[in-house]
Amino acid sequence: MGGPPSVKVVFLPGGRTAVVRPGTTLLDAARRAKAPVRTRCGGVAGCLMCKVAVDEAFRDRLSEPSDAELRKLGPLLQQGMRLACQAKVCRDAVVQVPEDPLKAAVRKKLAEQAEEDLW
Ligand code: FES
Repeated sequence: MGGPPSVKVVFLPGGRTAVVRPGTTLLDAARRAKAPVRTRCGGVAGCLMCKVAVDEAFRDRLSEPSDAELRKLGPLLQQGMRLACQAKVCRDAVVQVPEDPLKAAVRKKLAEQAEEDLW
């Protein structure tokens, strides 16, 4: 009965979901879910582009921070940031993928323009 145990990971804001084995990294789960977690280093804690934010309620559902995360994220860990390539999923969890910085910049610019147009 049952088959191997599995956990569900939901990636916000898109809500893309993956069902994976416990112990799978968030990066692998994101790939499976086709969620836009970015990586340049290929998952060796080198690029820090795979940062995701984890709500307080879900923090204990991931593996303890790795030495690399402790070193590279420092105080950001307390704010719920994790490196997707390092953090492993232990139980069902929801994580937040930060907006692409380029898209964020474009959006800010558009908002500024809209504001200027008001004057
Ligand atoms: S993928 Fe590069 S630090 Fe995680």
